[in-house]
Amino acid sequence: MSGHAAGRDRLSLDEKLELLDGADLWHTAAIARAGVPAIMLSDGPHGLRVQFDEADHLGVEGSEPAVCFPPAVAVASTWNRDVARAVGAALGDAARAAGVAVLLGPGINLKRSPLCGRNFEYYSEDPLLTGELAGALIDGVQSRGVGTAIKHFAANNQETERMSISVEADARTLRELYLAGFERAIRSARPWAVMCSYNRINGVFASEDPWLLTRVLRDEWGFDGLVVSDWGAVYRRDRALAAGLDLEMPSSSGAGAATLRRALDAGEIGLDAVDRGVERVLRLVDRVTDAASVDREPPIGVEAQRRVAHDAALEGAVLLKNERSALPIDPDQGGPVAVIGEFARTPRYQGAGSSQVASIRVDSALDALRGLVGRELRFAPGYGIGATGPDDALVAEAVEAATGADVAVLFLGLPPDDESESFDRSHLRLPDAQLALLERIAGLAARTVVVLSNGGVVEVEPWQRHADAVLEGWLLGEAGGGALAELLVGVHSPSGRLAETIPIALADNPTVGNFPGELGTVRYGERLLVGYRWYDAHRMPVAYPFGHGLGYTDFAYEDLAVHVVPGEDAVVVAVTVRNTGERVGSEVVQVYVSDPDAAVARPDQELTGFAKLELAPGEARRVRIELDERAFAYWHPSVDRWVVEGGAFEVRVGRSSRDIRLASTVSLEGERVSPPLTLDSPAGDWWQHPVLGPRVRELVTGRYARLLADPAEAPLFRPIPLARMIRFPGFSLSEDDARALLAELG
Ligand code: BGC
Repeated sequence: MSGHAAGRDRLSLDEKLELLDGADLWHTAAIARAGVPAIMLSDGPHGLRVQFDEADHLGVEGSEPAVCFPPAVAVASTWNRDVARAVGAALGDAARAAGVAVLLGPGINLKRSPLCGRNFEYYSEDPLLTGELAGALIDGVQSRGVGTAIKHFAANNQETERMSISVEADARTLRELYLAGFERAIRSARPWAVMCSYNRINGVFASEDPWLLTRVLRDEWGFDGLVVSDWGAVYRRDRALAAGLDLEMPSSSGAGAATLRRALDAGEIGLDAVDRGVERVLRLVDRVTDAASVDREPPIGVEAQRRVAHDAALEGAVLLKNERSALPIDPDQGGPVAVIGEFARTPRYQGAGSSQVASIRVDSALDALRGLVGRELRFAPGYGIGATGPDDALVAEAVEAATGADVAVLFLGLPPDDESESFDRSHLRLPDAQLALLERIAGLAARTVVVLSNGGVVEVEPWQRHADAVLEGWLLGEAGGGALAELLVGVHSPSGRLAETIPIALADNPTVGNFPGELGTVRYGERLLVGYRWYDAHRMPVAYPFGHGLGYTDFAYEDLAVHVVPGEDAVVVAVTVRNTGERVGSEVVQVYVSDPDAAVARPDQELTGFAKLELAPGEARRVRIELDERAFAYWHPSVDRWVVEGGAFEVRVGRSSRDIRLASTVSLEGERVSPPLTLDSPAGDWWQHPVLGPRVRELVTGRYARLLADPAEAPLFRPIPLARMIRFPGFSLSEDDARALLAELG
């Protein structure tokens, strides 16, 4: 303990209770007498949302201007840890320059359903990809001396009734999916704070859950920072403090302190709980003051931040389809280029709610294309953003622009009102007016290209036959317009990959019927089969699979080598990747593991590693990806820990979850976890028991010995509990024998 934390005991009880509560919307309390300064926490994950005056926390009121970086949906699609780290460092610099001590983010809840209104702010349907990229972003922010509050812990996968809904999920589902991303990011990047979510998990509010906030987070994962509530997520302050929630935000206007005082007086909580929370608040203050005293480069300025935002946007866009070499567009040669769609001129580049940034300067793709394209460029807005039906005059203008053009580039997407914090979406369709426009335009130009702007997935199957190429631009931040233009004209080859499956239709999604729940409860009935895990298990076609993304060059995979690390259940994968095309491009090598013969239900395959590399035409490079034990493990609920089951695993290497190029099988030692033996255990467990088995096989004689040993009969008899079999006529092992054997076992 050092600094302010060491001075904890010199504080009065009133001062301690004050420190456990916010001072206002964004600051912790200052205790002037003891020299404890206030520190400022501020949104958000993709750009600063500093509010210096008293204001709301839901993005309704404005905030200070700041660079808007690509939101998590786009950062995730880069599959590039370096990009995430660079965005984090730039965010950290922006925060430092504004005097913000802790950034409220990143948000890393899993994309359980594509309908979640906040998916733009989350990374992926896969916990490994989520944890890796969020970890890199946290690392980046904290490398600049600013803390992060990773959120929303945990299982906050929808906005509907987010402040009360109870998530019903079993231990494997929580551990292997919904907690796994947090665990990975927390263990690797050590965020200074964790923000607990509003919802309940199996009936218990996250803010009041000692299992979540103390046992899992601190005792198992070794988290040593502060737990802060989401804004307004504290229900019972006394229970929350006892569970491990240290700081209530925003200020409860004294209500929290009054509850704690009552609980202390009644002996329901002890002073030790107060001291523990206070120590963690003070330790955060210490971290902040220590970081401020370190000599660092001055924060990078706004223009440098915008360059980081631009570079991230370049890698975040995903080329879904590119037929007839529709892309890239030659900037100088050929007939007119028609740019159609209001989103080309008025970009949709970020989501809404607490992460909404008052951007510095928004680049439009239209302006950027005008700067890059040397041939005739026509523009027609085609539709009004938010329009409910087609506008005949706008459509006629767009038809005129497209007619006879060499290429028509149509910008389509979701209006801002369609997706936000606080509510979920009800469908995955693009607006009817935009689809009607696409149908009208299709075929008028020699080639038709669609560019999408949307934070959550949209269905593409109903309309993509009208487009030769589709570039999924997600929401790319304020510099995204320039990045899109550069990709369209081939200054760079697209290198984004899908961090979530695009299903053919919403109806295919595993959460149908269980989203957003009913009567206060949402049952995660699909268990482990979220996203590609579901589509794979059901052998379902999808519009575009997890991990998919094209570029302007091709890659070949050669010489897969997979080695087990001696003495460990870990594996090293090596593969050579060759750029077989004529342009520079980046490939994302993806490693999936399959456990074909598991004792428990496991997804067909799971992402266990990835690496992104840029290759010149003809260049080949060896890529090495290490898979630790966790890549092969499942959560065993009875022994309450991760278990690698011994046996064969298939290691698959490819370009996407559905484009596996090479595979190899490894055999791991693992372990065999047997539940404790009791009289009610199946007779087969007794028969085959590693210690007692030989004795049991001596004591069981005659007919039953044959039935338990014979491969044809054993499947019928081995499942019968021993206690039942003991009563069968002629069974030679008695209950006393069994009890004696158990006693021998201890
Ligand atoms: C959101 C958080 C945000 C906080 C402060 C809450 O409503 O869920 O993500 O950090 O407000 O704005």
